[in-house]
Amino acid sequence: MTTFAGLWRELEPLGRDGATGGYRRFSWTDADARCRAWFAGRAADRGLRVEADGNGNLWAWWGPRGPGAVATGSHLDSVPNGGAYDGALGVAAALAAVDLLREKNFHPERPVVLAVFTEEEGARWGVPCLGSRLLTGAIAPEAARGLRDDDGVTLAEAMAAAGCDPALIGPADDLLGSIAAFVELHVEQGRALAPLGAAVGVAAGIWPHGRWRLSLHGRADHAGTAGIADRCDPMLPLARTVLAAREAAERNGALATVGKVTVQPGGANAVPETVTAWLDARAADEPALAETVAAVRSVAAKASAEHGVALGVRRESYTPPVRFDERLRERIAGVLAAAGLGPAPALPTGAGHDAGVLAARLPAAMLFVRNPAGVSHSPAERAELADCEAGVRALAAVLEDLAGLCAGGTPNWPGCPARACAATC
Ligand code: GLV
Ligand code: MN
Ligand code: MN
Repeated sequence: MTTFAGLWRELEPLGRDGATGGYRRFSWTDADARCRAWFAGRAADRGLRVEADGNGNLWAWWGPRGPGAVATGSHLDSVPNGGAYDGALGVAAALAAVDLLREKNFHPERPVVLAVFTEEEGARWGVPCLGSRLLTGAIAPEAARGLRDDDGVTLAEAMAAAGCDPALIGPADDLLGSIAAFVELHVEQGRALAPLGAAVGVAAGIWPHGRWRLSLHGRADHAGTAGIADRCDPMLPLARTVLAAREAAERNGALATVGKVTVQPGGANAVPETVTAWLDARAADEPALAETVAAVRSVAAKASAEHGVALGVRRESYTPPVRFDERLRERIAGVLAAAGLGPAPALPTGAGHDAGVLAARLPAAMLFVRNPAGVSHSPAERAELADCEAGVRALAAVLEDLAGLCAGGTPNWPGCPARACAATC
């Protein structure tokens, strides 16, 4: 038993919709503030020193902030009507892993820091992993400050309303430079581990993926009087585009989804004036992704022209393929095997993660906890308590290894390349 279940009981109700059981933990809202306060409080209870960087990411330090830190954590924001585990599992597991290590009387040789990243889902401002992108300089602060949510509120305005100075948004090279490795624990978002009988897996890499905003502008009119031939109805090219996305994805072994559509003015008895839709596309490699998106764009352009509709396409985010650090992965596999938690299967994923963004700047890795149904971004997302506990033990073992002393007596990672390293130190 770890302290995970108690932490989970506290976190689980925050931001949950009583009717659907789904979560709406959008960044910089009240629900988000309650989640952040919960994390800060639980970290402070443990004597961890909590600070926020200029992007609102939270950092709870076990030991003095300094070079060579081992970082873990995830995010607390959710998609609309999201599941309980996506992000939250990695945050609660990080706190429980610290408890477990302390119970064992472990004293880290290098700082351990627990991170909570903001706006990982991009549910409010459209850019996923916004907190880690800003931290690493993958998006310009100016562009981020001006991002608008569906109500027209900018990121800068929302942060200012939450008491954070938006002028501080941007890269934090000092902070990033002090981190030697990042390991994110996350619920599995597919169903690969269940048939393999494994509670915990290790991420191999992340598919390239992105989001494209399609704006289709036609002419509003009366649904009962405007003749069919006289209409400029943007819904029609969108319908063709949605089907084309499915077909292009099938052809290219990719994934393409139109999961968000807004219609203006939105009257049941009016031909729409404007339809805005978001295409989310992902594939195992960049050529397949590019081919999928190009096919969708081409159909959208042709169908829009046929219906007298003006089309705009804007890429709102893009994440190139990620291969997690081989040495760190091998090391983690060895740690899990030694802890009786292996062999942990190596899994690729089409889901984006802050660990993937950080991987461009430092050795990063991920642990996945089995999701028996494989469903995610839905209230049906699930992980068994016993598997979450296994995840906590796995994370604790990894932190103990990375932040401890190697067999030769020098601090581990990144100074020590091999786990059984007495000979090489
Ligand atoms: C994050 O969950 C994503 O959309 O991949
Ligand atoms: Mn996530
Ligand atoms: Mn997610």
